Amino acid sequence: MGVRGEYLASDPGTLGVPRLSVLMIRTALAYLATGFLVGALLLIHRAVPLENWLHRLVPLHIEYLLLGCLVQLALGVAFWVLPRFRSGAERGQEAPAWVAFALLNLGIQTVAIGGAAGAPSTLGLLGRCVEGLAAGAFALHAWPRMKVFRSEDRGS
Ligand code: HEM
Repeated sequence: MGVRGEYLASDPGTLGVPRLSVLMIRTALAYLATGFLVGALLLIHRAVPLENWLHRLVPLHIEYLLLGCLVQLALGVAFWVLPRFRSGAERGQEAPAWVAFALLNLGIQTVAIGGAAGAPSTLGLLGRCVEGLAAGAFALHAWPRMKVFRSEDRGS
């Protein structure tokens, strides 16, 4: 069952997925696969103890699935579907959203790899601060695009 023609936008560009969303969604799927793989390892390790250090991968498992996958997927889809502007750049200021993508992944890696390597907890805290900055940067991008839908906004 396909999408009926009358429900498709007339401009093909309207249906395209922006580059940042493609990147974020693909990155989220990569985190999902890695997170599940590590989860499976942890599960096997519970039944048949493998290596002592494996338990140190629990924070990585959590970080990859909750922030790497779920949060990143939400931001990637939000960048794509939030209302666009009629004039000027249609998604407004994109730079803060790109900064958010970079900071989010830097923060995730700092928390996950720092945790797995047994680094001091201050590194984890630093990673969380970087993730916080990512949230702030994305809010800066998304804030002006958040508006109440009115019937006169509907295209002619
Ligand atoms: C979206 C999917 C998932 C999320 C959000 C998630 C999240 C979590 C969280 C928060 C914990 C920590 C629980 C605690 O501290 O008590 C955990 C532990 C665990 N997860 Fe997942 N998980 C997911 C998928 C999976 C999958 C697919 C597997 C296995 C194939 C798995 C295997 C495990 C195991 C074995 C533990 C316990 C590790 C240990 O304490 O030794 N998880 N998970």
